[in-house]
Amino acid sequence: MSSSINIAILGANGQLGQEFKWMAPQYRDIHFEFYSKNQLDILDANAINNALSSGAFDYVINCAAYTKVDAAEQESALCFAVNTEACHSIVDALKGTKTRLIHFSSDYVYHTYNRFPLKENDITQPQGIYAQSKLQGEQILRGSGIPVLILRTSWVISSFGHNFVKTMMRLGKEKSSINVVNDQYGTPTYARDLAEKVLDIIQKIESKQIDESSFNDTYNYASEGIITWYDLASQIMTEKGLNCTVQPISSSSFPTLAKRPYWSVMSKHKITRTFGIKVPHWYTVLKGCLNNIG
Ligand SMILES: NC(=O)c1ccc[n+]([C@@H]2O[C@H](COP(=O)([O-])OP(=O)(O)OC[C@H]3O[C@@H](n4cnc5c(N)ncnc54)[C@H](OP(=O)(O)O)[C@@H]3O)[C@@H](O)[C@H]2O)c1
Repeated sequence: MSSSINIAILGANGQLGQEFKWMAPQYRDIHFEFYSKNQLDILDANAINNALSSGAFDYVINCAAYTKVDAAEQESALCFAVNTEACHSIVDALKGTKTRLIHFSSDYVYHTYNRFPLKENDITQPQGIYAQSKLQGEQILRGSGIPVLILRTSWVISSFGHNFVKTMMRLGKEKSSINVVNDQYGTPTYARDLAEKVLDIIQKIESKQIDESSFNDTYNYASEGIITWYDLASQIMTEKGLNCTVQPISSSSFPTLAKRPYWSVMSKHKITRTFGIKVPHWYTVLKGCLNNIG
């Protein structure tokens, strides 16, 4: 392995970005540069070019994204600018360098309900602005000619930032009963686990344990199992000993601006087979996340 791997993290103050920051001290062979939105706005093509075009980084990990899926329906220009058009600026900055890009996409790009774990080559039919912006971002990167690994993930949770676990913990303290949808299936992804897997893949590529050609591809990543948001909420109340009853309701009785996929269960076969990584069960990652939230 080379003496030091240089990595730039974009969107460093999001859930995933903060997990990379948290774990950085444990990786002595990796030098990280963290760029929050204030330090590097990915809508600023010049700033992106200045920061990334020198080729100083071995990897750029793009954690920056517009993730407010309902607000996106009313702020589509901003959502497309961040999730789609900024991909052009990143590509332009990295073209001609040896820097590899790691980018995150979403289960929302599939939006099919086939009751089989979704595979990377399944059809995509994104519903809503956020989902479309993520798919179009993927397409720009895939067709760009730069080396890019795209990870489609789902239901991201973390002790950092805003997410379902933290919302449920707050509601569980404030209310005696809440309604949660029980007809949308998937599994949570603990951002810390995802960040660890990304660094594991990088180290395996750098140490040539894995063929470089595997990098330039699209992979799913989430935890194992199949649950609904209702199951997840119920388990959070149980684990935290919160005296709040979780009532199952259907999505039709909880309308949202953006349509949610009913089926977000993704196959992890390709990423485990290719990179030899282990995928934890959702209960394990939930326990880990809850412990770290405290
Ligand atoms: N969260 C989920 O459940 C979920 C599910 C599937 C896929 N994903 C994908 O996983 C990745 C990581 O998600 P996450 O949960 O870590 O998202 P997050 O917590 O919302 O973090 C995104 C970060 O990007 C920053 N950002 C927004 N616009 C930017 C800009 N113009 N320039 C630079 N930074 C900008 C945000 O800053 P501000 O907060 O200040 O705007 C925020 O710090 C994203 O690609 C997301 O689409 C997430």
